[in-house]
Amino acid sequence: MAKQHISFQLNGAPVEALVEPRELLAHTIRERLRLTGTHIGCETSHCGACTVDLNGASVKSCTILSVQADGGAVETVEGLARMAKNGGLHPLQEAFMQEHGLQCGFCTPGMLMRAWRFLQENPEPSDDEIRFGMAGNLC
Ligand code: FES
Repeated sequence: MAKQHISFQLNGAPVEALVEPRELLAHTIRERLRLTGTHIGCETSHCGACTVDLNGASVKSCTILSVQADGGAVETVEGLARMAKNGGLHPLQEAFMQEHGLQCGFCTPGMLMRAWRFLQENPEPSDDEIRFGMAGNLC
């Protein structure tokens, strides 16, 4: 199958890759671009471990084709620290650490990325809004 050249912004930096049209964004990010913070759990759009941000929206990168990111902007968990004001961890990462917001940690990158986007959409959510907003991410 003929590969397709794609380019997009990944955590604020330009990247390019040669991908098969059927290749999933999660695989391109992990295997071609070597950012392994994005995890793959179910690969059926249920668990949310693979959640990244694409063009300002949370997406499950196991169900997005890489060619759909062409020309766009992708943020992964590796990009969170870049957004921190003091050069350290992002406040969400600090909060997860302080509040023990993880167990084994496998779901944490997806949780962080979904929480980051969710709080931009709704900076002062109610408990019910948090449950609904994070419902696509399983621990
Ligand atoms: Fe994508 Fe589970 S690996 S939702």
